Amino acid sequence: MSSKSAEAKPQQNKPPQKTFTLTNDETGESVQLPVLEGTCGPPVIDVRKLYAQTGHFTFDPSFTSTGSCKSRLTFIDGEEGILMHRGYDIAALAGKSTFIEVAYLLLYGNLPPKKDLQSFNDSITYHTMVHEQIHYFFRGFRRDAHPMAIMCGMVGGLSAFYHDSLDIWDPLQRETSAHRLIAKMPTLAAMTYKYALGQPFMYPRNDLSYAENFLYMCFAVPAEPYEVNPVLARAMDRIFILHADHEQNASTSTVRLAGSSQANPFACVASGIASLWGPAHGGANQAVLEMLEEIGSKENIPEFLEKAKDKDDPFRLMGFGHRVYKNHDPRATVLRESCHEVLEDLGVNDPLLELAMELERIALEDEYFIERKLFPNVDFYSGIILKAMGFPDSMFTVLFALARTVGWVSQWKEMMEEPSLRIGRPRQLYTGPAARPYVPIEERE
Ligand code: SDX
Repeated sequence: MSSKSAEAKPQQNKPPQKTFTLTNDETGESVQLPVLEGTCGPPVIDVRKLYAQTGHFTFDPSFTSTGSCKSRLTFIDGEEGILMHRGYDIAALAGKSTFIEVAYLLLYGNLPPKKDLQSFNDSITYHTMVHEQIHYFFRGFRRDAHPMAIMCGMVGGLSAFYHDSLDIWDPLQRETSAHRLIAKMPTLAAMTYKYALGQPFMYPRNDLSYAENFLYMCFAVPAEPYEVNPVLARAMDRIFILHADHEQNASTSTVRLAGSSQANPFACVASGIASLWGPAHGGANQAVLEMLEEIGSKENIPEFLEKAKDKDDPFRLMGFGHRVYKNHDPRATVLRESCHEVLEDLGVNDPLLELAMELERIALEDEYFIERKLFPNVDFYSGIILKAMGFPDSMFTVLFALARTVGWVSQWKEMMEEPSLRIGRPRQLYTGPAARPYVPIEERE
């Protein structure tokens, strides 16, 4: 893999390496482990040599205390409710930028000058069509297939078409694959939506912006002209920005792990789509709408809050809580504001928004949620806006995957540009049976 490693310059007055000393209380032996510090956020203890030095593994099954990589893309401060991409605060990007510009920022590291943004936008635009054979893939699915099931298949299948950009060691082919994935996700998502409706697919249009094009491919029909509502296009673009990347979340970690085995980027993104589908992750936006519809009215909120607190009841307050945010999720704050704007602009009076606001108010005053620092997350409001825009709740996670593809390919690209790519291969604490002899079937009870 080609990579320019900067010549190591002798650093004068290099500060002493910080270390963490670990002592085995049984043997009294100690090891000194290096402490690494980033630009901001907690320092990390480098345990890469721990097993070689101590014969012990670390144990962190859901990675609550584990950093899996170095990254320059996104920083989250869960205590302060901070999210920034390459140093730019999410609220500023959502208010002033566009999704295509944020995609460039995540891929290349800086906000682009006008000419670079234009050429990037053109590259994405000219990759929006999919191979005509892909239309036939849809025929194999039932019309009522979940759109995420179709997207898993479609995106993985893209690697059957683009043999000219599968060499993961060639930076140019990596870039082409990244652009193709960013460009084709809206087309495939719209096709998935149209297939469920039984309507003909709409081809992308090069005269429309990224968000306009997606809305056009979803809501236009060949029988008549279709004008994209600028309010919806702006709201769609903002929703894409808010979902673009989020550090090492479950689906991004899935993409990175798949990429570490040198799988092609289309297969890696397909694995990310599968992971995002789960209701504990990106599937929560659909689950929030279903939950609000099940709650039905404000009078029922106390009953459902009790269910959410009951350990014997699997019911969770969907759209609430987060592994990292122990304060508000800044994306939920922006989405709450967008909710009101979009519904007002559309003249939609959705009782579910009132219900959501009341549920949030009551939950945030409840000791259980306060004690566990459970706040609304990105999924709590997104579904209400998407429903007002005309999408069925089965499409909500597809839209999340569409936007998160920018984060997935950017994180994958960053990983591939590391000086050495090693396959990710965690170990375990084995708790199964000790060695035992084989028992012939005649001797088994
Ligand atoms: C996303 O990681 C990311 O960055 C993800 C994401 C991204 O952009 O990629 O932000 C997108 O996935 C947002 C999260 C969407 N999921 C949901 O809204 C589903 C509902 N939330 C929960 O399932 C949960 O909060 C998680 C999965 C989000 C976080 O789970 P954790 O960190 O493993 O927390 P936990 O399950 O250990 O909960 C801690 C406590 C527990 O109670 P105790 O055992 O301590 O008594 O809080 C309780 C949990 O029971 N709890 C909830 C709850 N979430 C946590 N109780 C009721 N309702 C909830 N929603």
